[in-house]
Formats: sequence, structure tokens, C-alpha cells
Amino acid sequence: MNTTVTVSAPGKLMLFGEHAVVYNHPCIVTSVSERLTLTMKQTKEHIFTLEAPNVNIHGYSKTIDTLCTGEIPRGVQFIEHAIKIFSKIHAIPQGISVSTTSTFSPLYGFGSSSATTVCTLFGLFQLTKIPVTQKELFTLAYKTVLDVQGKGSGFDIASAIYGKTILFKTGGEIIESIETQQLPLIVGYSGVKADTKTMIEEVKKKMESYPDKVNRIYTAIEQIVFQSLKCMKESDWERVGKFMSFNQEYLRDLGVSTEKLEAMISVSMKAGAYGAKISGAGGGDCIIAVSPPEKHSDVENAIESVGGKIIPITTNEVGLRIETV
Ligand code: MEV
Repeated sequence: MNTTVTVSAPGKLMLFGEHAVVYNHPCIVTSVSERLTLTMKQTKEHIFTLEAPNVNIHGYSKTIDTLCTGEIPRGVQFIEHAIKIFSKIHAIPQGISVSTTSTFSPLYGFGSSSATTVCTLFGLFQLTKIPVTQKELFTLAYKTVLDVQGKGSGFDIASAIYGKTILFKTGGEIIESIETQQLPLIVGYSGVKADTKTMIEEVKKKMESYPDKVNRIYTAIEQIVFQSLKCMKESDWERVGKFMSFNQEYLRDLGVSTEKLEAMISVSMKAGAYGAKISGAGGGDCIIAVSPPEKHSDVENAIESVGGKIIPITTNEVGLRIETV
């Protein structure tokens, strides 16, 4: 066995198809330049320890046999559950010491929980020298997220593992890399942390009350996903932007947009963006906009003028990787 390994995974941004993807429709997600890094050490004591300053966890410690029991801070749940799930199929080290750092705030909605889950499982495979495929890792990480969160499509897990820009269908039925150039994206953080689970619940209620209407929305979003896929392959950013705005209309109908997000989107459009939409569950987190290069700074200034924070990123980034062994 190795005694220490460091691995890292990228954050993600949903480009098209959020919410619909929870109900068996495809989405497009890109991985970004911001990364989460996890170092895992095997130790001799039967203890799990965690230092995760990125989620305000300091000096966390418990015995290995009490993993997943008692009060568990949110920032730790995904790691404990990942270790538990791994331990059901492979022997784990006697003691495990984990530390995480991240170049992005967990508030942005860039997928820090899924990146942490994926890194924890990959770290265990590396420490125990057990070979694993990307698909096997996806299955275990998706199970972990469902255990902790109850619902979710798994698109964020796939993005953390595979990187690049991918076409994804619920539960990993499709995970297909898309050949596309660097996306000219502008990302604006609303200053509000969204709760994905709550937003999924809200949409579920709408689905139960108005199934025909919501299903029609999902079908329309699916068409947008395939049309924008074609435009992304052709680097036709003007049409990609237009499709983002069309997608946003449907997200608005689903009731997941907010005044703040709408203000950021509206000023982006007035400043010359081709299109803009929320990225992810809605209720907060970030908007994304696509604009002609000469309008980039105008769009950024406009987003800041209504209280948004610009998060500089690049897209199509490399997925899960080993940093050091
Ligand atoms: C959240 O970022 C995106 C949703 O589609 C949930 C999911 O796909 O797991 C709302």
C-alpha cells in the first residue's frame, strides 16, 4: 500500500438542461479551472481525521467504526459516506487521515460536494492499489451522493471524474465528451447560496401539480440541449447564447429563478451578451453569460453593477487526476 496520495477534481458549471436532467433528459456540463484537492494518508490508529478549511472543518476526528453515525457536519457527510460505501466492497486502511483544499468557495455551486466525494473514493483506490475504471468510480460516487442527498442526476459527479464538456443523461446512462473550443463564458455569483435539494423538491411539487405542463417544459429543454450541442461543436457562440436565453425562459417557468438572478441576466443582455441563464438548481448560486469578445468587460461591469461577483474561470478542464503519490 502507498501511505499518502493527493488527488484533485475540477468544479463544474451546468450549461444546459438542469432540472430536466433529474427526470431522464440530457444536459450539458463543463468542468472549470477551479479545483478541489484532497490528500489522504493511511494511519495505524483506527481513527478518521479531517482537516477541511474550505468548509470550515478543523480537527475533526472519530473512530473508524463510528463513521456515518451521530451528528455529522454537512462538509463531512460526503467523505464519511464515501469511505463507508468503499468499505462495503474493499478493505479500507486501518486509519484514514484526510485533508482538503479548494480554489473555489463551496458557496458558488461549482460542485464541491461531488468533487470531494469523487476524490475520497479515488484516494481510497489509490491507497489500496485497487484498479478502478471511471465508470465504476461514477457508480460508487453517485451512490454516495444519493445516500447523502436523496436525489440528483449525477451530472456533477460525471463532470468531476471525466472533466471536459460532456453530454450527460440521468444516472450516467450517457456520458459523452463533446469536442468544443474554450467557451467564452462569463460567470457571475449572486451572493446567495442555493440549496439544490430544496430546489429539486420545489420543482417536484410543480411536476406533481402540473405534470403535462412540466413535461412539455422538459421536452423543450431537451430540444435546446441537442440544438446547442450542435452550435457548441461549431463554435457558434451567438446561437449558443440565444439557446441559453431560451433555456432560461423555461427555468423561469419552472419557478427556479430569483429577482437577483434575473437582474444579473437582464443587465448582461442590455450590455451586449448573446444570452444568459442561471447555472444549476437556481434559487441563487451563479449565472452564466456568453458575449462577443468586445462586450466582455461591459457585461462583467453590468453584472457587478447589480451586486454580482465575477468569477474568472476557463472551461473544458481536465477531470479527476493524481497530483502526487
Ligand atoms: C443542480 O446543479 C442541477 C439539478 O439538475 C440537479 C441535478 O441534476 O442533480 C437541479
